[in-house]
Order: sequence, then C-alpha cells, then structure tokens
Amino acid sequence: MHLRVASFGIRALCGEGLKGLSMGKESILVRGNGTLSGEVKISGAKNSALKLMAASILGSGESVIHNVPDISDIAIMSDVLRRLGATVCREDHSLRIDASGVDSFSTPYELVSRMRASISVLGPLIGRFGQARVAMPGGCQIGARKIDMHLVGLESLGVMFEVDHGTLIASTPDGLHGSHVVLEFPSVGATENMLMAAVVAEGVTLIDNAAREPEIVDLCTMLCAMGARITGAGSMSIEVEGVPLEDLHPCEHTTVGDRIEAGTFLAGGALTGGPVTVQGIDPEYLRMAILKLKAMGCDVACGEDYVTVKREGDLIAADIQTLPHPGFPTDLQAQFMLLSALAEGTSVITENVFENRFMFASELMRMGADITLEDHHAIIRGVQGLQGAPVSSTDLRAGAALVLAGIVAEGYTTVYEIEHIDRGYEDYVGKLRSLGADVVRKESEERV
Ligand code: UD1
Repeated sequence: MHLRVASFGIRALCGEGLKGLSMGKESILVRGNGTLSGEVKISGAKNSALKLMAASILGSGESVIHNVPDISDIAIMSDVLRRLGATVCREDHSLRIDASGVDSFSTPYELVSRMRASISVLGPLIGRFGQARVAMPGGCQIGARKIDMHLVGLESLGVMFEVDHGTLIASTPDGLHGSHVVLEFPSVGATENMLMAAVVAEGVTLIDNAAREPEIVDLCTMLCAMGARITGAGSMSIEVEGVPLEDLHPCEHTTVGDRIEAGTFLAGGALTGGPVTVQGIDPEYLRMAILKLKAMGCDVACGEDYVTVKREGDLIAADIQTLPHPGFPTDLQAQFMLLSALAEGTSVITENVFENRFMFASELMRMGADITLEDHHAIIRGVQGLQGAPVSSTDLRAGAALVLAGIVAEGYTTVYEIEHIDRGYEDYVGKLRSLGADVVRKESEERV
C-alpha cells in the first residue's frame, strides 16, 4: 500500500516574498523496510545560491542566476534583498535580481534571525555603500557560530564596527583598501564576506587560509563575471585586485550542483543498497564522501556530472572526521552517522567544525542506534536494524537523515519539525518517492 502524497510547492514570485510558502506544522510520515533505487536530479547548491544572490547587490542592474533551488532559505534571502530595495523574480529555477533600486544598507533582526546566512549581505553592502547595518545573528542549534573572523577580516580592509542594541554598524571612514589577511580557520562565511568587500577595495587583498569549498569557487566565478579580478579561488590563498564599484556590472550565472543534497541521496543509496544515481553534480566535490562510501563497502561509479552508488554486502564501520573542504563535510555527518549505526563494527565520528552537532545522535538512539557521545566524538556500535519512531529534525541535515533512517527502519516513522528540511532540500519527499520510498508529507496532529 502506498501512502497518499501531499504536494508541496514554494512560489516566491516577484514581490510576493514568503507569501505562499508552506510553513505550517507539517511532518513527514515514512513507511519502513523500504528501498531506494533509480536516478535523482540534484538541485543547485543552497550554500552557493544564497551568496550569489548577496553578490548581485554589487552590480547595479539585473543579474540572472540559474539553477537556484526552490527552498525556503532562498525565499528568505529574496526578502532580504527586497528589503534593501532590489526586485527579485523567480522564473522556474532562475532568479532575476534587479539591484538598481537598492538604496538601503540595513538588514533587520526579523530577517537575520530567520536565516543566519543573511549576514552574507554585510560584505557586498560595505562594498556598495561603504557602510552597512546588519542585525547580529544569534547562535543556532549546531553551535555558537561566531562572526569574529568576518569582522577581523573586514577590519583589515578598513572597516570599522560598532554594535548598537544588537545591530552591527559598519563604516569605512578612510575607504576600503587591500590587505593581507590570514584567517584563523578557513571559515566559509568569513571568506565570502571578505571577498565581496575586497573586490572593490583599493589595491590588492590576499586572503590566506581561505575556505576552499566549491561554493567559494562558484562565488568567485560570478564575481569575475561581474568584472571583479580574483585569482586562486579553490586554493588556500585567494588574491583580489580591487576595481572601482562602477566597473562591476550585473551578470548571468548558473549555480553549481548541491554536493550536500547529492551526498544525502548517495547515503540513502548506500543505506538501502541502491543503485542510486545523483545527476547534476561534479564528483570532484564529493571526493572524501565517495572515499568513505567505498571504505564502508559500497561500489561507486562516477561520470562527468553523476555518481552512482550501490551495495551488495554489509555496511562496514569506518571512522570519519569532519573538516573544511576538501575534508569530509560537516553537512554530511548525520547522514553518515546513520550508515555507521547500521554498519558491521564500531565507528568513531569526530566533529571538528561545529561544537554542538550531535543532536541527531539522540534522535537516532530513539530508533535503536547504539551511540556514545564523548565531547566531539561519537562512538557508534553498529546494530542489526532500527525501529520506526516519532522523531524531530534538530537541524536541516539531521532532518534529512532521519527520513532516510525511517526508510530502512522497521515500522513507521514520523519526522517532525520538517521546516528545517524545507530550508535546504527542494521537494525532498517527491525526490525520495521517485526513488521508490514510501514517504508522505502530512499536517502534524498531536504527537504520540
Ligand atoms: C557554511 C555553510 C554550512 C556549513 C559550513 C561549514 C552556508 C549558508 N552555510 O556555514 O552549511 O556547515 O559552512 O562547511 O554556507 N566560526 C567562528 N568565527 C567566525 C566564523 C566561523 O568561530 O567568524 C566558526 C563557526 O562557529 C564554526 C566554524 O568556524 O564552528 C565554521 O564556520 P564557517 O565555515 O564560517 O561556516 P558558515 O559559513 O557559518
């Protein structure tokens, strides 16, 4: 028997903002003992598209960004840009952003508190106006998530900061000037904010220990298409030769595929045996995850823009430590913890990027996993099977992993707080159903 599917669609049309978004309390009901097989088309990367949208502020006129996922975080960023004065229109998976009307440099708490990534408008606002007022983001469930490195990096470019009642006020009394910065940690957000200010700073900026994520390369590609001069993107040293703001212009750009969405579906294939093929992703972005899938007993085949995973024998335990790219991504930690939970043997997962990213473990333990947490290590002793249970998404990736757990568990699983999943996965339920899973969105009733 198949469960009835409820359709879900996000429409963020011109000027509509979040109107029409399905933000009600829904849950996902999963029927267990399922399998996943077939092909799934991967959407554009959330973590790239959000920053590409922010970068469009720097080009007065209409930029077009293709392959933008239809997810709630993008709708929030659209609202952030509208609040600044831009026009944002979605046409299928393309966004038309006209930044010529941007006349404000203030982003209020009401928006930043809904999505921490709103802080990525800080760099481009400083680049465009020489000043910015952005509400300070708070922490989030996966850690304190400070912004000290963003501030230190921007200060070296000549930005002065003060905090007024929770709002960060940035000014550039002597203009922006190039500088040599060594980041304490290759922070993705700090690298991006620095890049988006440095492109219009006078002189040359060198960012050492820069983040090397594919999304950084994507941002640099778009900035260069807008007229910026950047070399070294994807390496630990990025050099930016500043140009006058007037030399930056709008552009057309296509977002890279989402390696985390791809890795999530590959984990699903590894979990059930597959074969599952993810289309629209450069396998290079997933090198470490693919190495771990192989170490765990999976067969993996790669083409130019696809990866296929299948597994015939048992899952085998493998240790994992999360690290900045090209290390194992923290955003795939929960999905691989699920694989470890059902693997033969004991695995140790070490979380090095966020200090509090093991909340998923306690939900998985409620389904029968055997996990001990010690500081930032999780010791996972593989069990024979999991049992369906009511569980809660503690964050975006944990939510996606819990749905996968429900697919292989015995019985039914209800995943609550799925608004986290909607932040980053376009039509997750629809894509899983296309691979044969018995999953459905439903209005949440009283929890049992
Ligand atoms: C981005 C991604 C997120 C991913 C993370 C690491 C987006 C919207 N989010 O987040 O999905 O998990 O990269 O790959 O792109 N830190 C500081 N001070 C700072 C900046 C960061 O202490 O000024 C710490 C953070 O608290 C965290 C670590 O550094 O512990 C990594 O953060 P960072 O690389 O900046 O991640 P985000 O850009 O927030």
